[in-house]
Amino acid sequence: MAINIYTGSDIEKMRAAGQAAASVLEMIEPFIRPGISTEVIDQHCHDFITQELAATPAALHYRGFPKSICTSVNHQVCHGIPGPKTLKAGDIINLDTAIIKDGYFGDTSKMFIVGKASILAKRLIQVTQECMYRAIKVLKPGMKLVDIGQIIETHANKHKYTVVQEYCGHGVGKNFHEEPQVLHYAQPDNGIRLSAGMIFTIEPMINAGKRQIRLLPDDWTVVTKDRSLSAQWEHTVLITDDGYEVLTLRAEEQGWESTIE
Ligand code: MF3
Ligand code: CO
Ligand code: CO
Repeated sequence: MAINIYTGSDIEKMRAAGQAAASVLEMIEPFIRPGISTEVIDQHCHDFITQELAATPAALHYRGFPKSICTSVNHQVCHGIPGPKTLKAGDIINLDTAIIKDGYFGDTSKMFIVGKASILAKRLIQVTQECMYRAIKVLKPGMKLVDIGQIIETHANKHKYTVVQEYCGHGVGKNFHEEPQVLHYAQPDNGIRLSAGMIFTIEPMINAGKRQIRLLPDDWTVVTKDRSLSAQWEHTVLITDDGYEVLTLRAEEQGWESTIE
């Protein structure tokens, strides 16, 4: 299987899907407060996606996933299943929302702080976002795909953090997960170079402790083996003729490029 190249109306529809996914994360922000359960957060997102966006939550029933979004708290790395447990002040949580609109997928996630977080947690969240932004900022046709992982790993390691290796970014478009795999750590060149029309996610998972992970008995929730905090951010990006376009950009991120070296 080859990497899809998207053009014309495909790109228009991916823009719409990306913006729809981003709007879920904007809508839910005021609800992320101490005392709310992750299943109530999921319900709000489900209703917004289906009723306001007239879209489909991509996670729901995907390989048997039971809910509409992933909610990963503190030492949970990814794929946390929304449930009755409530958030408390000081928690950090990743909400990962993927939607299908008009046959096209948008996939994005962000970290939220519940009440006030520790300086350590805030730093992990910020450095993880910097890892993603640094990798996005250099995207352009001709670039080696593996340079993405190199950039992310170098920045994470500089701050004594580790990169989770078992999950990666992915091509996205008419399918939830398509080629290429976008690894977030350095590896030998596989010969793949970016070209205009490619659409994929960059979604690094960064741990404050060791990189090793464990799967909980629910068969979905991934946690750090050493129970250290973990953070993740995700955007869907399009490679353009002269660079990139972040399809899932939120209003709060306007001007992000100037904050990144
Ligand atoms: N949104 C995730 C990703 O970034 C995939 C979640 S699959 C689920 O690729 F089933 F856990 F929802
Ligand atoms: Co993804
Ligand atoms: Co996602």
